[in-house]
Amino acid sequence: MSFRVINFFMSKSFKTFLKHTAKDFHNQSVNPPVVRASTIIFKSMQDIRKTQAKAQKNPIGGHYDYGRQGTSTTHILQKILTKLEESYHVFTTPTGFGAVFLAIFSVTRPGDEIIVADPVYSPTRLFTEKFLKEFDIKTIFYNPRDLKTLEKNISKRTKLIFVENPGSNTFDFQDLGKILSIAKKNKILTAIDNTWGTPYFLKPIKLGFDMSIVSATKYYSGHSDVMGGSLAVSKRVFQKVYNAERITGLRLGPDDAYLITRGLRTLDVRLDRHRENAKKVAAFLSKNKKFKLLYPFKKNSENFRMWKKYYSGASGLMGLKIKSKNINSVRKFVNSLNLFGYGYSWGGFESLVLHQEFRETGNRKYLDLAKDEHLVRFHIGLEDPNDLIADIKQALRHLK
Ligand SMILES: Cc1ncc(COP(=O)(O)O)c(C=O)c1O
Repeated sequence: MSFRVINFFMSKSFKTFLKHTAKDFHNQSVNPPVVRASTIIFKSMQDIRKTQAKAQKNPIGGHYDYGRQGTSTTHILQKILTKLEESYHVFTTPTGFGAVFLAIFSVTRPGDEIIVADPVYSPTRLFTEKFLKEFDIKTIFYNPRDLKTLEKNISKRTKLIFVENPGSNTFDFQDLGKILSIAKKNKILTAIDNTWGTPYFLKPIKLGFDMSIVSATKYYSGHSDVMGGSLAVSKRVFQKVYNAERITGLRLGPDDAYLITRGLRTLDVRLDRHRENAKKVAAFLSKNKKFKLLYPFKKNSENFRMWKKYYSGASGLMGLKIKSKNINSVRKFVNSLNLFGYGYSWGGFESLVLHQEFRETGNRKYLDLAKDEHLVRFHIGLEDPNDLIADIKQALRHLK
């Protein structure tokens, strides 16, 4: 079977690359087939050995002797993502959280310390703070608004700085360049969860990060029906992650790899539209005095400045910080929305909403939230933005 992945430099624009890459000329199909395999059959024992020798020489070349290492279907997705990330390689995992786990597990050992952004995705917080502690790996959280809390906590044991940008639910945009220069000065590895921006809007490996995580469950798949993750790496950490990946067996299956590859064909089109829709909704929300909009919209804000410095665009996920002593009115506002589904995740074609009450915000150390303040998260989908604004407008009458 012959596959062709078009050379990125030949196709100039990544938008064109996404549409033309990975055609299967053997089967004359626009998309490559799903190759499912546990056993991979060879012509002879010598052939197995030859493939293994090739894999040893070129571990990212797509030479497999067993299904756990992947098939051509996962290999194609990895090659496309490597071009999108402009990284040395991309590993694909069964979930986004699997990529978070793989990144941290690959580079930390008992006795190490890691410094993590305070507003990370709550399962990442739970994993680092509670689970890693049992393996004698200590986590210190830093304030995304005060990088002195990062710098002063660096010790000889610090192995990794783990950033999530923007912060989960509070959408704090951080000074990524400054974080990288602190890491460089102290010879510490860096990882970032870039699910919000995706490499379409921010390329962390080019910026200087060693590892970059994206939950493929979100914008890559784009249709709320697949789970997956990607971990882009620099050459410096490749071998460590490769060893950890093989030992843990954390690999995406071919059916999910196929669906994510299919989603990627329209990543640029969808993200451009999410951005435009979110901008219109943000313009409407920013005029309301009942809450603070958590999205890089107001040009004079610190958040806007930090976003503008590093990103080429913004996705569709935003938040509101609502001050109200009447929690029932906040609940009523959220429950009166007709076009926003209530459910976890985001990045699909449809709009979603979540209300996080104060008591549900966990044990963040630097959370800037009073007891009578509430966080509401919107994912702005691909609907007509005027319909979304009209829906929010009618629900807002309940907010007191
Ligand atoms: C920022 C961020 N990172 C990682 C994840 C984990 O991804 P998954 O749900 O694919 O495991 C999520 C999921 O919501 C997320 O929001």
